[in-house]
Amino acid sequence: MTTTRPSGRQFPDAFVWGSATASYQIEGAVDVDGRGPSIWDTFSRTPGKVLNGDTGDVAADHYHRVPHDIAIMSQLGLQAYRFSLAWPRIQPTGSGEFNQAGLDFYSDLVDQLIAAGIDPVVTLYHWDLPQPLEDAGGWANRETALRFAEYARKVAEVLGDRVKLWTTLNEPWCSAFLGYASGVHAPGVTDDEKALRAVHHLNLAHGLAARAIKDVLGQDAPISITLNLHVTRAASDDPADVEAKRRIDTIANEVFLGPVVDGEYPKEVFADTADITDWSFVLDGDLDLIQVPLSVLGVNYYSTGRVKYGTPPVGDGKPGPDGHRSSPNSPWVGATHAEWLPQPGPHTAMGWNIEPEGLVELLVGLHERYPGLPLAITENGAAFYDTLSEDGRVHDEDRVAYLHDHIDAVGEALDKGVDVQAYFVWSLLDNFEWAYGYDRRFGVVHVDYDTLERTVKDSGRWFAELVRTRTIPT
Ligand code: NOJ
Repeated sequence: MTTTRPSGRQFPDAFVWGSATASYQIEGAVDVDGRGPSIWDTFSRTPGKVLNGDTGDVAADHYHRVPHDIAIMSQLGLQAYRFSLAWPRIQPTGSGEFNQAGLDFYSDLVDQLIAAGIDPVVTLYHWDLPQPLEDAGGWANRETALRFAEYARKVAEVLGDRVKLWTTLNEPWCSAFLGYASGVHAPGVTDDEKALRAVHHLNLAHGLAARAIKDVLGQDAPISITLNLHVTRAASDDPADVEAKRRIDTIANEVFLGPVVDGEYPKEVFADTADITDWSFVLDGDLDLIQVPLSVLGVNYYSTGRVKYGTPPVGDGKPGPDGHRSSPNSPWVGATHAEWLPQPGPHTAMGWNIEPEGLVELLVGLHERYPGLPLAITENGAAFYDTLSEDGRVHDEDRVAYLHDHIDAVGEALDKGVDVQAYFVWSLLDNFEWAYGYDRRFGVVHVDYDTLERTVKDSGRWFAELVRTRTIPT
């Protein structure tokens, strides 16, 4: 294992250790117990959209293996488990009737977690939009935000205060820009204007859902949102490159942080996108609805990016060299006049560069900007091409090194006074990695996709030792 940072760092007792998953990526059972179709069912079944034609039909079959998977979490010593609810399991068409079997599934999951001493951390939307809502315009349609709030209200009524933390949206950047601009994610639309509408309607959905939850559970109900804030460097000091970086910060980060935390879109958002839209879909009163006090801000971090001023080529819609984060071919990048450059290595199997310092920078920057806002790492991890060895184990030394260095980076941020309260490793299990299907493995637990057998990887054992000792193992 090649680490770049010291071992032996100790974490406070109050720091929470967990792992994360998402419904479509692990559950399978897509047509069981009344679940309706989602945009990812449709997209993954569309030839050419997902590597090897993989779908989430079976995935890790978590739907049928909850007790076993919770036993694995206990074996790892997890204190919290971050998972998402499949909206189409709970409300098959995205409006109207709720599906009791879907509500029961998550209610039982929550009970079993609590019985195992593991805090449930629930994400309401991790990308599996009910297909009928997409047919009506998806996130480009304001109505979707209103439907989302109704779904959130119902779930809050059913799961109630058994949930430790409510996360409205996971990585709305991906939903908006990969879903509606580059089209490399479901629903596969390539329309800049729709992507920017989606941005606003996702922000609105966050605010309305947070308000619905607080309505049901009281103003103290713990609310969060998880963002994949881009840590981007300019390729040079040339003002044009610096401006390209500024534009990425605006369109990828400020477009969410602005309304959700600060209560307004910075004027640069409108200026930078003036040739695409006049943002007339932002209605009076929306910004007041969107800004709701957060208990914690969820941060997903994997890698960094580097940009120079330029005009990217018109793309073929395929994920670019730095994977799902930001396709150089995506039209929204074109609108920003920023060209993504390859980053020096080392890289993970996603082609993403490994740079734990970017995480320190991100956390310190957020803390300086929002000193009173606690942070949680809601995802961090790495894909590698793991194999089961003859000794029955998975010796994923690269992943151990990645986790080691990034968790040390979290410790450095703590030393610098940043209020980081939790770390969730992505992911508990190998799973359906969106446009990359089952080809890229992120789990600390290996899944054999023929037998669905689970094997705790060396990284899982290492993580369990960390959780047990609250000290970064050597
Ligand atoms: C972010 C997403 O939330 C998750 O679904 C995905 O698998 C990981 N990053 C890795 O790409």
